[in-house]
Amino acid sequence: MKELIKRLVETPGPSGYESKVREEVRAAIEKYAAEVYVDALGSLIARKGPDNGSGKRIMISAHMDEIGIVVTHVDKNGFARFTNIGGVYPRNCVGGRVRFLNGVQGVIGQEQAGAREALPLSQMYIDVGATSPKNCPVKVGDVAAFERPFTDLGNRLVSKAMDDRIGVAIAIETLRQLEDTPHQVYFVFSVQEEVGLRGATTSAYGVNPDIGIAVDVTRSGDTPNGPKMAVKLGNGPAIKVRDSGMLSDPRVVAWMVARAEEARLPYQLEVLEGGTTDARAIQISRAGVPAGCLSVPSRYIHSPSEMVDFNDVQNGVKLLVAMLSQPVELG
Ligand code: CO
Ligand code: ZN
Repeated sequence: MKELIKRLVETPGPSGYESKVREEVRAAIEKYAAEVYVDALGSLIARKGPDNGSGKRIMISAHMDEIGIVVTHVDKNGFARFTNIGGVYPRNCVGGRVRFLNGVQGVIGQEQAGAREALPLSQMYIDVGATSPKNCPVKVGDVAAFERPFTDLGNRLVSKAMDDRIGVAIAIETLRQLEDTPHQVYFVFSVQEEVGLRGATTSAYGVNPDIGIAVDVTRSGDTPNGPKMAVKLGNGPAIKVRDSGMLSDPRVVAWMVARAEEARLPYQLEVLEGGTTDARAIQISRAGVPAGCLSVPSRYIHSPSEMVDFNDVQNGVKLLVAMLSQPVELG
């Protein structure tokens, strides 16, 4: 599974430009799904379930997109000025590298070289080796993803775009391992999550599920003076109770907890103070859908070195397989 994770995280796919990731996902799942299609915004949807269409419609959503940048203008000295796509923190930018979709690479610098603090993105630039707009190989509207290779520390895996390729990898692996399900499971590999859950919003409308589960990263409280939350890397996948955009349906939480306990899988309960996931979009789609989220505890989210624990990842797959293999009645 580490090979799959490496391939997914190293494929660039800023929000709105997920096509390369989509092709990787399609190649990985095609053999295992009854039906695979792409919706109008670009989300890839793979269905698995009984041929007669029976069973509950369950949507599993993992987003393919990652944060990135887009060029606003090229200044007179050939520096590409840019703005964010999704939640880009200035403190994670200076000295970092980006790769444009056309392959051009660049280094991020900021004005007042030598300043101790990170300046706003409007005072940063990308140095692609140009000296004027004329010889600059990128132009207004060109999009780039951050660049940083996958690093395997053993149990801990590090890369850019673990948010949310790790969720994508978990969904792929679940689809592959799910031998028999009484449900119609719709694995949605969604687009444009980082800019406001846009792909999951339209996909949830199209799929019209009875239950929705997002698979995404969450923060952890186990770094020095880190966020005050109970989630720790290595203590199991987290079952979301609440984040700043959603209260999970308590019946969905109870279902996830019951399956984890039956299967003797480690799990932790998550209360996240900042951020939300595709589950919010599913929950409030159409007339409303019971929804929850399986979260992968992560450190350094939205940096080029997002870290997860491989045991949590594998146990996340096991929990989803356990949930989807048996009938479910929400009380
Ligand atoms: Co994110
Ligand atoms: Zn995410």
